[in-house]
Amino acid sequence: MIFWTFLVITTTLLIIYYKLNKKTPDAFKNIHTLTLFNRISMIITKQLGYDQLYFSHKQYFERDGIVKERVRGKWSCLVTDPAIAKELLLKPDVYPKMSIEKFFPNSLFAEYFGTNVVFSNGDIWKRHRRVCNPAFKSLPLQLFADIALKMINSLETIDKKPIEIRNFMQRFTFDVLGKVAFGFDFNSLGDPNSPYITSFNEVQKAVFDPLTLLFPIDRIPIIRQPAGKSQGDLLEHILTANENHDNQMLSDTELRYTLAIFMLAGHETTANSLSTILYLLSTYKIVQEKAREEVFRILGDNLIPSAEQHKSLKYLNMIIHENLRLYPPAPSLLYREIIQDLKIKDIVIPAGTIIELFLYGIHHSPKLWDNPDEFLPERFEKNEYADNENFSWLAFGAGARMCLGNNFSLIEQRIALCLLLRKYEISLAPNSIHKDGIKFRTQMTPYPIELIFKRRD
Ligand code: HEM
Repeated sequence: MIFWTFLVITTTLLIIYYKLNKKTPDAFKNIHTLTLFNRISMIITKQLGYDQLYFSHKQYFERDGIVKERVRGKWSCLVTDPAIAKELLLKPDVYPKMSIEKFFPNSLFAEYFGTNVVFSNGDIWKRHRRVCNPAFKSLPLQLFADIALKMINSLETIDKKPIEIRNFMQRFTFDVLGKVAFGFDFNSLGDPNSPYITSFNEVQKAVFDPLTLLFPIDRIPIIRQPAGKSQGDLLEHILTANENHDNQMLSDTELRYTLAIFMLAGHETTANSLSTILYLLSTYKIVQEKAREEVFRILGDNLIPSAEQHKSLKYLNMIIHENLRLYPPAPSLLYREIIQDLKIKDIVIPAGTIIELFLYGIHHSPKLWDNPDEFLPERFEKNEYADNENFSWLAFGAGARMCLGNNFSLIEQRIALCLLLRKYEISLAPNSIHKDGIKFRTQMTPYPIELIFKRRD
């Protein structure tokens, strides 16, 4: 029975594959195809990490800088050519982001996130960005510090016992986002079952559920919170900027869409980044010791770095940038739908194709990096990571659509790492599934990582 089912499914898929391939435009004929089989086998073998996606097709990415696949009936190209990255990122009007409404029409996802600062294009995006920009100009360091100290206090009770770091870091970054962006204490560090993180996770599950992506179902839990006293959080700045009539204000609904996307963009990425960096520090003890030495040298008795000290933490910044290169939390950029033909070497990609810039591939290409798969913070010693002229380091994107929260995240990471390095020696729990290299559950979210934080007295 199993054999016949397998045969029927395989034959059906082969027929679909053949039919689709028959329609392949000439321009695509020589480009390697990532097939449905590849995707299915990734699901079956639970190897959904974008590292697997790259390494299983590395020869084609390196040969052509492009691999194609069918996405919802259209051709989509995964691109690792930095020259194309430059072209795409510097001309957002020619290569706009694909709108959610077009990709997932009538879905809960589209209804929930609407036209926000991340997904919109053109004049709508400009309006969102103008209202949000001022809030990210000077970030309230003290609010970051308050939550980081709370995070250390809750670690104090778990000395020497293994702790699952991804979950812990998600609670930390969630609370930072609550406090810094919305002036509200979600208290997920104090209470792992806090109703806020529970309902956030529920919303995520509902919004990303394949069923609700295809069919509209309205079941988003809403929690109302009492208005608190403002402490200079980002929401306050955003509301002030939105009252400025020169800015062409956002409507209440548009504001809500952008705040909803902050909840998503503003903490998962940094939680992943801190998890992989702590994993690296637990594995590369010499790097950990060198970073700790720098923290003591630059900060002296200060627990939290001042604005000036943030810049002086050169080695820590190199570690953060190398971690973002090795394990970019956003391993590919949002789909761009090209509205004019795009030439890659001798290939012409026709207008209408979807392009997905595959950052993981760019960050691991041996053409762009020496020993690309090794953790070598020193590689950033000379070029000071800010120099990204060849578009080889794109963890936060580039051009006008570059991440709005890059400084937010870097500040958050530095403060957390300074405190953790000062107080603890970090090691990987014995018999960890990650002892021979980190394993990813999806894209760049690792399988649970147990780390041991031993207090340094
Ligand atoms: C390690 C942490 C983070 C990483 C790796 C990251 C990465 C990225 C990337 C690659 C993009 C460009 C997407 C594209 O062009 O398709 C982006 C955009 C964006 N990010 Fe982040 N991000 C991080 C943290 C944050 C935080 C903390 C916030 C807010 C609090 C944030 C808010 C945004 C917004 C609003 C955009 C859209 C900007 C625009 O299109 O104008 N991000 N991010």
